[in-house]
Amino acid sequence: MSDATAFFIRRFRGALDNVGEPGRYFRPRPYRNAVVRFRGCSIEDFEQRRDILVNEAGLNAFLFRADMIPGCDLLSDSGTTTMTMEQWAAMFLGDEAYGSNEGFFELREQFAETFGAGWCDEGASAGGSSDSMFLFHQGRAAENAFFSVLARELSRAGAGRGGALSGGLLPELLERIGPRLGGADGSPGGPVFIIPSNSHFDTTQGNIEDKGMIPLNLPCKRHLENDETYPFRGNMDIEELENLLEHERDRVPVVYLTVTNNTGGGQPVSIDNMRRIRQVTRRYNVPFFLDACRFAENAWFIQRHEEEFAGTGIPEIVREMFRYVDGFHISLKKDGLANMGGALVIRRDGDLFRRFPGFREGITDRQIMTEGHPTYGGLAGRDLMAIAEGLRTVVRRDYLDARIGQVARFGAGLDRCGIPVVKPVGGHAVYIDIDRFFDGAAADVGDFRGIAFTALLLIAGHRVCELGTYAFGSFDGEREIPPDPRINYVRAAVPRLTYEDRDLSAVVEAVRVLADHRDRIPGVKVEYGRQLSLRHFKSRFSFAG
Ligand code: F0G
Repeated sequence: MSDATAFFIRRFRGALDNVGEPGRYFRPRPYRNAVVRFRGCSIEDFEQRRDILVNEAGLNAFLFRADMIPGCDLLSDSGTTTMTMEQWAAMFLGDEAYGSNEGFFELREQFAETFGAGWCDEGASAGGSSDSMFLFHQGRAAENAFFSVLARELSRAGAGRGGALSGGLLPELLERIGPRLGGADGSPGGPVFIIPSNSHFDTTQGNIEDKGMIPLNLPCKRHLENDETYPFRGNMDIEELENLLEHERDRVPVVYLTVTNNTGGGQPVSIDNMRRIRQVTRRYNVPFFLDACRFAENAWFIQRHEEEFAGTGIPEIVREMFRYVDGFHISLKKDGLANMGGALVIRRDGDLFRRFPGFREGITDRQIMTEGHPTYGGLAGRDLMAIAEGLRTVVRRDYLDARIGQVARFGAGLDRCGIPVVKPVGGHAVYIDIDRFFDGAAADVGDFRGIAFTALLLIAGHRVCELGTYAFGSFDGEREIPPDPRINYVRAAVPRLTYEDRDLSAVVEAVRVLADHRDRIPGVKVEYGRQLSLRHFKSRFSFAG
């Protein structure tokens, strides 16, 4: 072999990770396009988009027609995945039998492979008395069933404690929980139960509130302090959790942890944090559950940043994450790499089933009443096959490197233009801090400049989502109540396997134009829906200036 080949191989290898300059990559994507979709519109149709946005959509990004977006649709990474050829092929093999179709057994086997053998009992009859995997058409349906049955079982058991909060609570917890517990003095009649989490997603928050319980976000201090050097900003604050359980254990039926922490900035959670939560919840005998939508992305960050796991494969790290919990719900529209699907999984021999003997039947009844037979849970047989296949792909190292690397480059592109993004960038999305974008001017609650930002970016040709003072705040009839803790982000969520870097660079350029003229961005007036629950999905706005 000539010296020249060896020389160049060394040079090529050296160039592999050379990402010094934007747009210069040696390393190609680990996949290529097999099907493409042409756009139905042009980037030049600015006036047409403005007319649709103002007249049809009331400046609400959710209400804007997707076929009129010529650029990147970054409204959500949920259900927007481009599926692999293996998934499309698996769909052909979908079995549409009404009960116990092949997909159910395939998926149950795959759950055991992905999350650990203890989770699914192959010997159990489908939907039968020892099953622990409950299928739903998407994540929020699983949340709804879980919190409905939990509320019913707690009330049957006469659990909970009304009255004032214990004086031993940390002042910041007292301050945050007190006003939400019935009367301002904590008098009985209001919500009794509290569901803590690192941060609940909006639908989880909605489902918990709908059952008269209090969702409580306990993000770690380093996240709140905007510590850009901390790789696990998704962690939960253990001191606050421990204090809550020490003094109000009877009001906490379950502790939640969202991986990665979507509401908090898409940030990962460390195994160390999970172990600590496990210790504390064990001590106080409270079940510990994951909202596990982005489990594989979370595992990738653990491998990268937690020394103990540097040499451990992604599949093993995933199973390690799930060892510590009593159950989880999952939207399979994210790391299931599927367009639809959700599940609730509860440890067969766990406390929840022991403490509430009616729990399992309660969940199964809800499946039958609202979703279909437990063996398909609101999904077509072909969906089940696509999910099973997606779960095999999502833990591939090459896939995750490409996926998370792309989101990181997108975030770095915005950062280079001086756009204040939440750093380090998380796994599925880039979050722009709207308060900082407007140099603090957006901190005036009530003018919702994050909504104006999303509206103008739509006119530019790209769709992102406000997850800030509008989505997470509320209006009590007289005044705006900001999110607790206060966050004011616009999120650009990147669909999986869908866009190329060049597409995302176009978003960076559009945001740069907005940033260059940020003083010309007006606030918005809410025309409809300010007092509604889950208002950001339904509201209509107009530009205020
Ligand atoms: N939990 C988290 C952390 C989520 O991000 C979502 C959905 C859900 C639960 C609900 O799952 O959509 O299948 O009902 N998040 C999407 C998003 C909608 O855009 O972040 P679902």
